[in-house]
Amino acid sequence: MAKASGEAKLRAEADGCTRCPQLVASRSQVVFASGSIDAELMFVGEAPGATEDREGVPFVGASGRLLDDLLAGIGISRDEVYIANVLKCRPPDNRDPRADEIANCFEYLQRQVEIVEPTVVVTLGNFASKLLRNDDTAISTIRGRPEICQIGARTVWLLPVFHPAAALYRRPNLELLRDDFKLLPLLVSRGAPDQKQAASGSREAAGDAEASARPDSEDDPPQLDLF
Ligand code: URA
Repeated sequence: MAKASGEAKLRAEADGCTRCPQLVASRSQVVFASGSIDAELMFVGEAPGATEDREGVPFVGASGRLLDDLLAGIGISRDEVYIANVLKCRPPDNRDPRADEIANCFEYLQRQVEIVEPTVVVTLGNFASKLLRNDDTAISTIRGRPEICQIGARTVWLLPVFHPAAALYRRPNLELLRDDFKLLPLLVSRGAPDQKQAASGSREAAGDAEASARPDSEDDPPQLDLF
């Protein structure tokens, strides 16, 4: 109940947000989040697009349909996860989020993580990965490697993956994205990392996590005990 009221309060606050005048002028509505506040798995995308802006729900356009399909591939439905974005408002003409907008909106995302307390946060694409890892390394370099990461007061497994739009745009990315999604059930099953009192954005490699979580082939199951 505390979670539900905490999220509802934060959602109401974000709904009335006026921190970014250009986004306030261009948005139809704030797109806060969707899914379960009890989720162990949280996804963070970039920003709402036209369909999301119209419907008020993240990832309901073409990228969202692919996200649903990727989740179905690992036996999870969208109702079981929590989905949010770096920006809660659609940038005009789908332009990239600006640094000042990302900074203005970051507090909402951190508080969402603190309320939901996920075990795993999946960053979809460059904007979410760079923000939550506090590092500028490109997604193509870091994708598929779980890390332990501090987001606000919460310590999570963070898994950076390609944005679904990048997989729609470039088909070879889709296979990599499907491979990376296969890591998620194992990461969730490990439970949250030890909770630390570290600075937000601090992170450490997950040791053997990647090697032990990634099956060599479909027939070769992950080695749980090495994690
Ligand atoms: N829809 C969203 O909600 N976020 C994205 O990053 C892309 C599409």
